Amino acid sequence: MCGIVGYTGKQSAITPLIEGLRRLEYRGYDSAGIALGTPNKLFIEKRAGKLANLEAELGVKIPTAQSGIGHTRWATHGGPTDRNAHPHVDNEGKLAVIHNGIIENYTQLRTELESRGHKFESETDTESVAHLLSDLRKSHKGDLSAAMREAAKYLRGSFTLLAIHSDAPTIIVGVRRNSPLVVGLGDGENFMASDVAAFIDYTKRAVELGQDHVVTMTPSAISITDLEGNAVVPKEYEITWDASAAQKGGFSHFMLKEIFEQPKAVADTLVGRLDENNHIVLDELHLSKQEIQNLKKIVVLACGTAYHAGMLAKYAIEKWAKITVEVELASEFRYRDPLIDSQTLVIAISQSGETMDTLMALRHAKSAGARILAVCNTNSSTIPRESDAVLYTHAGPEIAVASTKAFLTQVIAVYLIGLHLAQERVVLTGVQVKEIFNELLELPSKIEQILETVEPLRELTRGFAQSTSVLFLGRNVGFPVALEGALKLKELAYMHAEGFAGGELKHGPIALIEEGTPVIAILPASHEHGLDEKMLSNIQEVKARGALVIVIAQESAVVTGATHIIRIPDAPSLLQPVLATVPLQVFAYEMAVARGNDVDQPRNLAKSVTVE
Ligand code: M6R
Repeated sequence: MCGIVGYTGKQSAITPLIEGLRRLEYRGYDSAGIALGTPNKLFIEKRAGKLANLEAELGVKIPTAQSGIGHTRWATHGGPTDRNAHPHVDNEGKLAVIHNGIIENYTQLRTELESRGHKFESETDTESVAHLLSDLRKSHKGDLSAAMREAAKYLRGSFTLLAIHSDAPTIIVGVRRNSPLVVGLGDGENFMASDVAAFIDYTKRAVELGQDHVVTMTPSAISITDLEGNAVVPKEYEITWDASAAQKGGFSHFMLKEIFEQPKAVADTLVGRLDENNHIVLDELHLSKQEIQNLKKIVVLACGTAYHAGMLAKYAIEKWAKITVEVELASEFRYRDPLIDSQTLVIAISQSGETMDTLMALRHAKSAGARILAVCNTNSSTIPRESDAVLYTHAGPEIAVASTKAFLTQVIAVYLIGLHLAQERVVLTGVQVKEIFNELLELPSKIEQILETVEPLRELTRGFAQSTSVLFLGRNVGFPVALEGALKLKELAYMHAEGFAGGELKHGPIALIEEGTPVIAILPASHEHGLDEKMLSNIQEVKARGALVIVIAQESAVVTGATHIIRIPDAPSLLQPVLATVPLQVFAYEMAVARGNDVDQPRNLAKSVTVE
């Protein structure tokens, strides 16, 4: 939540700052603001609403400055107004601060600062930091880095902070605790940002920062210390993402582009994962055969869409590896004394690698002795850094707030884990694993097939644009798909949408059906236990009460009772979710467009949820 960018170097700072904010707007878009490093007094401009409002305000009145900081906000403390927008400044207008996270002891801090004569302009927790830094800088003889170290010791909560002072405007100082910050190393210029996407056009060289590290950045150098002032050796890495991956590439929205990138994302996540001896190659798990055989259970921790991938992990891992899997909403996990120990493997799934709920749950599990495996899409983010091992998904940057390609690749990643565990526990033979792996390899072309024939679905969706409520039904692995379809629709179309297990319908939810209610039913691929027939009965039940039923069904399935049928290619039952999810993503996308909503930046949301 909140995007942060800092620049100091040889070019006019406004360009990298605004470009950086544009790339970070997915993190929050309640307001945007900049502080430029003009001498004597900083130039500050900030506006409520999207970055476009700030740009309109800036117009041509931009002073020359080769350094500055910029912020795009997801509001926590204080509404989304001009006054609450960042940067926040000290009373002299010489020091500016931007912040991502929450300062938990800000009330106490504000009271102390007010009693010392500081005047506050906003309702934010952040403004206290500007005043605190101003005082501390004076007591450290103008040393902003020393002031930042001192301030960070006092502050509680989670934060990335960047500060600039007009007395030394080419110096930008940053600090991070439980919130992301990366440094970009340029030639005669340097960058700081919440995410490498902000500066990927300028440099591929990045430095990751550890917990409680303070970084001081000038055009020619960076230096990093801990809070005691001890030097920290920078850990440099190369950004492998292509700059074009963070652009729309001819699509009307990032979400649509990302939906269409799914065949490649799935294929990339599978590359090199089966060797010539039919062994799943997952060396990065760092678990010996013995450790795998000793595992008592697996606990999956995740939020939102990643939680739905976790639900699918349970079906696959229990079936293939015969080990108990529990799936927990990360935000609930640590509040109920969960039973975990050193024989528990915790899988933390997160696209961003920064989700605070997942991070806190992971830390709880770690302190109880569990081994932590992250499934993540973002290199060097906090969750993989704090895990014992990480399996990266290869979705590339996901910019749209609604998760699409990250979800499919998460499913692929947890399935690979399932196959690996099954092999190491000697439940599946190499031949069986190869057979399943070959089915996985067919998924990219099957997704392509769905995307090539998606136009009638888009047209059909527009016909439902005035509906007030949509229900999704699934059974077995179709249940998480139903939940995911409903989540996408809520998030993008701002409609009432709910996903149900088909069998639960008669226990209450069927009362929601009235004449014309759209119901989307995912027809199971499996005849096992008569699952498909049971869903066909559920379809008849809702139809009899007036529902209009859209059925997602495999090509070879016999469908009865449907108002509309959306066909997807045949696949084995466990793999069907990877295909069945795609039409639901398109449905939510098209509905949002038809209702005139902001697809990539839906209201009230942010891509990376770094508060609990
Ligand atoms: O970055 P993460 O995967 O940890 O994010 C978890 C959820 O916040 C995320 O999946 C959210 O539910 C999506 N916006 C849904 O599309």
